[in-house]
Amino acid sequence: MTNRRTSASASRRPVSAARPRRRPRLAPVRLGIIGLGVRTEVLLASLAGIEGAETVAVCDVREAAVAKILGILERQGKPAPAVFRDYRRLLEQRAVDAVLVPTSWNSHLPIATDALLAGKYAAIEVGGASSTEELWRLVRASEATGVSCMMLENCCYARNELMVMNLVRQGLFGELIHCEGGYEHDLREFACMVEAGYERSIHNRFRNGDIYPTHQLGPIAKILDINRGNRFLKLTSTASKARGMQLAARKHYGAGTPFGEIAFNMGDIVTTVITCANGETITLTHGIALPRPYSRNGRVQGTRGIWLEDANGIYIDGMSPSIQEIDVAGNPYTTHKWEPVESFYETYDHPIWQTYRRQKQLGGHGGIDSLALRAFIDAVRDRAETPIDAYDVAAWMSVTCLSEQSIACGGQPVPFPDFTDGKWIARGRAPAGPWAL
Ligand SMILES: NC(=O)c1ccc[n+]([C@@H]2O[C@H](COP(=O)([O-])OP(=O)(O)OC[C@H]3O[C@@H](n4cnc5c(N)ncnc54)[C@H](O)[C@@H]3O)[C@@H](O)[C@H]2O)c1
Repeated sequence: MTNRRTSASASRRPVSAARPRRRPRLAPVRLGIIGLGVRTEVLLASLAGIEGAETVAVCDVREAAVAKILGILERQGKPAPAVFRDYRRLLEQRAVDAVLVPTSWNSHLPIATDALLAGKYAAIEVGGASSTEELWRLVRASEATGVSCMMLENCCYARNELMVMNLVRQGLFGELIHCEGGYEHDLREFACMVEAGYERSIHNRFRNGDIYPTHQLGPIAKILDINRGNRFLKLTSTASKARGMQLAARKHYGAGTPFGEIAFNMGDIVTTVITCANGETITLTHGIALPRPYSRNGRVQGTRGIWLEDANGIYIDGMSPSIQEIDVAGNPYTTHKWEPVESFYETYDHPIWQTYRRQKQLGGHGGIDSLALRAFIDAVRDRAETPIDAYDVAAWMSVTCLSEQSIACGGQPVPFPDFTDGKWIARGRAPAGPWAL
């Protein structure tokens, strides 16, 4: 029997091409990294495996952080980068194409804005905004320069979130109605240590709102086509009383000591409800001060199907098992059964994961750090729009300062600014590409 694919390609193959052709090397992308803390150590492990990614400059205000990162690069066998204490000097370097900004939450946005104004692509780490003004400055800088700013929201590249997006786009969930997400992570052990100066401790002492919204909001926003035919309209936020962090501080420092009795403003559970222009609702939960296993609390629900992270299940009407049973009074009823998420991988994995699940070494957080970095680096190389752009960054990060306002006003609804200035109505889905979300 003739294999048509084999015979067709064989007839076209020139005699001299018997050896496999070598793939051309990818052009280098020269990176500057601003902020050399714990996160950068993890990012460097992923960057080491990304072809063409070159760390040519680093910057931190702390001497010890610089020394530690230089040591890691040396152990990786990488050339020593130029070192800066002032990020503005780094941004002046012509040899830098793009910057990663894993600094503290309050400094991501001004640094990224300065980077865009200097013509450098910027990738900021996750976090929330302190004001809508700093988000407007970022959006205006991106619009004025045409340079893209991406949030390295690694959860947008998580396997389950991408597969659910795939299921939604194939129509298996019907019309979307409601989504949920959260950051529920018991961080009492270190966040209660106020004298250590941890950023989380400071924010939990002085603020009350959803200060870490993007891990699950990012994927949900992409699934709901936010800024591309849909947008966040308004939110309300409510905070519970604050107990968990204070109890942890008392346990750590001792009752009656100044640090042991310190007050935390942040409610143990902050619940935010967002309404979208197309009528969907999103509930976000922030909770880091109570004992519980980690969860991003994902839920995506439409008229035909649902994914629920904490059940590790998907149910699709007419496809998933539903069993007819009879109750004790003899009346029939239907029980709907979850199907394990893993049972969908083979058929419905997103193309990104179909490609990358075969790769053995994917770097931090089960590969998602590496996928987000690759998406950014490829966009820089191609001078293309990043798959998460300044409008996305602004919409997602604004939840933090808007939720603070809502809580401060007793749960009052707060409108979202339209950071696209109306462009969300006509903006279609992002052009297809290997990293498109
Ligand atoms: N995506 C994820 O899964 C993930 C995981 C961990 C942390 N993060 C994020 O990464 C970011 C950094 O976290 P981290 O744990 O590394 O914090 P860190 O405090 O360990 O490091 C931040 C570094 O930035 C430096 N810095 C701050 N302002 C600066 C400035 N103006 N110029 C130069 N350097 C400056 C600090 O000196 C510090 O070394 C945070 O936004 C955090 O939320 C993301």
